[in-house]
Amino acid sequence: MTIATILTPRMIVIGGGAVAQVADVLKQVGGTRALVVTDKFMVSSGKLAAATDPLAKAGVAFDVFSDTIEDPTTDVVEAGVARLQAGGYDSLVAFGGGSPIDTAKAMSVLAANGGRMRQYKVPNPIPKQGLPLVAIPTTAGTGSEVTRFTIITDTETDEKMLIAGVPCMAAAAIVDYELTLTKPYRLTADTAIDSLTHAIEAYVSKRASPHADALARTAMATIYRNIRAVCAEPQNRAAREAMMLAATQAGMAFSNSSVALVHGMSRPIGAFFHVPHGLSNAMLLPAITAFSAGAALGRYADCARVMGIAGDDVSDQTAVAMLLDALRSLNADLKVPTPKAYGIDEARYMSLMPTMAEQALASGSPNNHPRVPTRDEIVALYRQVWA
Ligand SMILES: [Fe+2]
Repeated sequence: MTIATILTPRMIVIGGGAVAQVADVLKQVGGTRALVVTDKFMVSSGKLAAATDPLAKAGVAFDVFSDTIEDPTTDVVEAGVARLQAGGYDSLVAFGGGSPIDTAKAMSVLAANGGRMRQYKVPNPIPKQGLPLVAIPTTAGTGSEVTRFTIITDTETDEKMLIAGVPCMAAAAIVDYELTLTKPYRLTADTAIDSLTHAIEAYVSKRASPHADALARTAMATIYRNIRAVCAEPQNRAAREAMMLAATQAGMAFSNSSVALVHGMSRPIGAFFHVPHGLSNAMLLPAITAFSAGAALGRYADCARVMGIAGDDVSDQTAVAMLLDALRSLNADLKVPTPKAYGIDEARYMSLMPTMAEQALASGSPNNHPRVPTRDEIVALYRQVWA
């Protein structure tokens, strides 16, 4: 018998305008004095007011920590912890993309457990639960608001560390698609492919379960149906709403199953070359799907059918061939570059491939993949996607 352990936030509030309920949600998870974790752009653009105005109006005490960066680092987390401990806060509100949410999770973990972030990287346990976090995503992508993971780059080694467990769960998530209406094209496309990758990887993972399957299937169907519309028509509210819900569902799927080889190989590309996470996933997804399809033909064929790419009347082999074509076409349509076209230095990329392969394997994600690669096979895949 296979036993699946399912984690979700205690509370998820979903819908246009839901962010206005932030003060009530915070109260329901026990917060009375919050540190709001976000980035500089959310402050300078005025977007943060969507969360802070309702807090102020409700008379909730809060301050703002806006020093988070893309690909959050241990330095930023440690600065955030110092701020958290100096202010006597009893809760956190994260507002932004995956980076502020991951930073807030790591701050909660590190403040409660002490030491250095690397002590808690997978597979190490996190002994103590930290402060309750209300996570409010402004992108439809990472699913961090509902996952048991945070990804933090170790400043000393450039390693993107995976940290996982109940203490990494937000207490509550507010999923408000109206916050995504102003996302620019590239961010919309990259985050959409990230969430599609979450759904596919959750479904083909060795850790898949019927519960996660249901979320993955509905998420991949919705994402594939809406991904071109949401990129071409930024103000298409129906597409934005569909993508936001699907990104959260894909997050719940992989949090309760896993991601796999695409994410394992994507993190080092992000860490060394600062390629946005969804974009590095996109660079890898078609080649890794081709590499793996033979090991889980039925599962990949299901993906093709659920996404509406193949009909029920074709063989698994044909369905998977159609899936590969569709993923390559999607990358072309969404203007996904190769690492070379992105402008990465060739000599550095080639020389770092063995290190990236080591880090990919060390993250544990490739072990969940239907075809577990050797280090040399990972290097070969990095070489294959280069140009
Ligand atoms: Fe991801």
